[in-house]
Amino acid sequence: MLTRAVFPVAGFGTRFLPASKAIPKELIPLVDKPALQYVVEEAVAAGFTTAIFVTAEGKAAIEDHFDRNLRLEAFLAQKGKQELLRMVQELGSLVEVVAVRQKQALGLGHAVLQAASLLASEPFAVLLGDDVIVGENPAIGRLVEVHRQTGASVVAVMEVPGEEISRYGCAAAEPLGNGVFRVHDLVEKPSPEQAPSRWAVIGRYILTPTVLHELRTTPPDPSGEIQLTEGLRRTLKREPVYACTFPGTRYDAGNKGDFLRATVELGLSHPELGRWFKSFLEDLARRHFQV
Ligand code: G1P
Repeated sequence: MLTRAVFPVAGFGTRFLPASKAIPKELIPLVDKPALQYVVEEAVAAGFTTAIFVTAEGKAAIEDHFDRNLRLEAFLAQKGKQELLRMVQELGSLVEVVAVRQKQALGLGHAVLQAASLLASEPFAVLLGDDVIVGENPAIGRLVEVHRQTGASVVAVMEVPGEEISRYGCAAAEPLGNGVFRVHDLVEKPSPEQAPSRWAVIGRYILTPTVLHELRTTPPDPSGEIQLTEGLRRTLKREPVYACTFPGTRYDAGNKGDFLRATVELGLSHPELGRWFKSFLEDLARRHFQV
């Protein structure tokens, strides 16, 4: 049963300084919702019921965000703010929250390993907060489908321009149709010349217990980090791994430019602000760009 989803959220968020100095970068809002909330809601929409946050010192606000806040609820009830009360209560009961600490910044593979004792010996999901994927259907739900068909680990992939592949894990994969691939090899952040393909791994994974087993003996890379990509590459020698494309629009919420793009696009589709924001942008375009 796929019920547990791991969210590695221990990083400093250096790409987002100074905003992320005292506030976990995952809680910086896109319009009116923290970026991480979109990702947790995606997992819940796909049937996951437990969120395991792999956190670090200074990041307790993440647990608080998904917890009940009885004092706030009592205050809103007393003031008769029913809509806000309902919203806050829904958020507090969205998902079961478990938090575990990653005591040293030793990479994504190491972060996932910190959750190992909470995962029994069942497959689980990993969702990276920097990858915000918005759409009608949850992106991780597509990986769940492929896992159900194959029983194997599944990674999300997206085709990127050649010069961008060095920012991602890269999959050498054979297309099987319907956006599903059999993975033959994985390389973490290859140079464009060395990349075996332009299929970039995006931060959504369904992992079997074999991946945890392999991560336990995966050596750190030259920068001292244990890479999840490397754990998966070693898994390939023991069992098949699949990749698949996914529905929705993906934003790199760890990148300031893409964060801005996400803010504008989500602002445009916001149920309350969308219409006003569209006419604001039209007016802005007329005044500034003679459109
Ligand atoms: C991580 C993974 C990488 C993956 C990426 C997706 O890298 O190590 O394989 O392609 O997430 O966003 P990071 O962006 O944390 O450096």
